[in-house]
Amino acid sequence: MAPESAPAIYQIYPRSFQDTTGSGVGDIQGIIQRLDHVAGLGVDAIWLSPLYVSPWVDGGYDIIDHTAIDPRFGTMADFDALVDKAHGLGLQVYMDQVLNHTSDQAPWFQAAIAGDADKADYYLWRDPKPDGSPPNNWLAQFGLPAWKWNHKRRQYYFHQFLPEQPSLNLRNPAVQDMIAGQMKGWRDRGVDGFRFDVVTAFLWDESLKDNPPATPKVHRKVAGEVFNPYTYQDHVYDMLPGDGAAYAENLRKWAGDDAYLFGENTSGNKSIELAMAFTAPGRLDSVYTTDLPENRGSPAIVAEVIARADSLQRITGWLSSHDQPRHGRGDASDPVLALQMAFLPGPWIIYQGEEYGLRQPDLAQEDVTDPLDLLYWPDGPGREGARVPMPWDAVADSYAFTKGTPWLPMDWDRGDLQRAQAQLAPFYRQIIGLRRDLGWDTAEVVDCTAQDDLLDLTIRAKDGRSFRGLFSHGGGDFADPPQGNPIVTADALCPTLAPDGWCGAVWSV
Ligand code: NOJ
Repeated sequence: MAPESAPAIYQIYPRSFQDTTGSGVGDIQGIIQRLDHVAGLGVDAIWLSPLYVSPWVDGGYDIIDHTAIDPRFGTMADFDALVDKAHGLGLQVYMDQVLNHTSDQAPWFQAAIAGDADKADYYLWRDPKPDGSPPNNWLAQFGLPAWKWNHKRRQYYFHQFLPEQPSLNLRNPAVQDMIAGQMKGWRDRGVDGFRFDVVTAFLWDESLKDNPPATPKVHRKVAGEVFNPYTYQDHVYDMLPGDGAAYAENLRKWAGDDAYLFGENTSGNKSIELAMAFTAPGRLDSVYTTDLPENRGSPAIVAEVIARADSLQRITGWLSSHDQPRHGRGDASDPVLALQMAFLPGPWIIYQGEEYGLRQPDLAQEDVTDPLDLLYWPDGPGREGARVPMPWDAVADSYAFTKGTPWLPMDWDRGDLQRAQAQLAPFYRQIIGLRRDLGWDTAEVVDCTAQDDLLDLTIRAKDGRSFRGLFSHGGGDFADPPQGNPIVTADALCPTLAPDGWCGAVWSV
């Protein structure tokens, strides 16, 4: 059953969570081992980044078999044990669903290359133009041309991310049947919901017309750094023509009414408006956009999201992920942002390790495996840094993540970790509890003012109680702070409050 409240969802990136075999890579038994910590925070659910069979060219988002567990993570019996343990702890389990593309090693794609016409239509193949060039000007989201030549078929195929991730033709009824079966299979194993990768990229205009150039405003807004050539186009033909958001009705039908469904919007431009379209009745529960993390939850962006969204229940709040550099700074801003996120109504994703105040580490180029980071090295986006394995124990070798060599170098500050484990993690526990007990998660926004570094937010819970949160992101005075003691304040954790001006507190009003 989907939770009645807006879930607090803990994101687990399995490769980097806990290794139990000494391979240096996390595994399902490791997740089981650390699940008490997650449940202890008081969250409602876990989101598991992909566990499926994959060559890991794109960190597991390039899938060979959507129905099987990668042996490096364990077995299906391990997975079943994980679901059992999670349910025993009162946690829902949300699986990643990467429906937009497969790995180029997937059997259907290999069959298409070998000449299987039915399987070729699982993807998008086109002849070259008479001069041998690609069928149109479309670019992949990572910034490479979106067409890759295959000499065996003497055709180009379409890919919206890496060339190793051919895009699936999601209008093909055979592909739809296959996806419906996959999702049913996971639901039958006890999975409670799904996170859908890049839902805004699912459909394209079959005319395959060239995209027009972006206006300067669209250029700045299209997701991705402005140095990525993808941002130079207005993606009117390669993304979401007409019925794009309605496709979410299929996802709902295949997943079941009682599943919690949330999707990733990578469109940038019109992000919140698209999120509303994708969460119309009968579609997804919520959608997350890059607005909050790209602006580190600034007062201005919170006010903008509130103004543009019909309801925050339909926006999944978050600040960090396996794709987004960690927002933690190891200073007073961490508990303030945590409290602000807990206070903001709607679902909330907590990325593994943010409760430990982890900061985005620097990596040497020779250690980085992410093709996207390497494409623009050293200028971004910094995805691999966010994937450095979890430190569990400040004094143990490899921080107790592994008995082997971690797949990425771990160089966490042991003193900072100890402090965060003693202070910040219990604070997360406290505010996740308050959010649930006081009904902030399902509250509605009554008033929101953002001025420079100050956010002043009043919300009303379903039972009629009202709360006011004041959050300073570095300075200034609030004109009329509420009288009396706050219910909770981030200040106790901020000995450096005065110098850097970060503070946050919530009052009953
Ligand atoms: C979004 C995922 O979160 C990211 O890691 C991946 O590279 C792209 N989708 C493509 O699947």
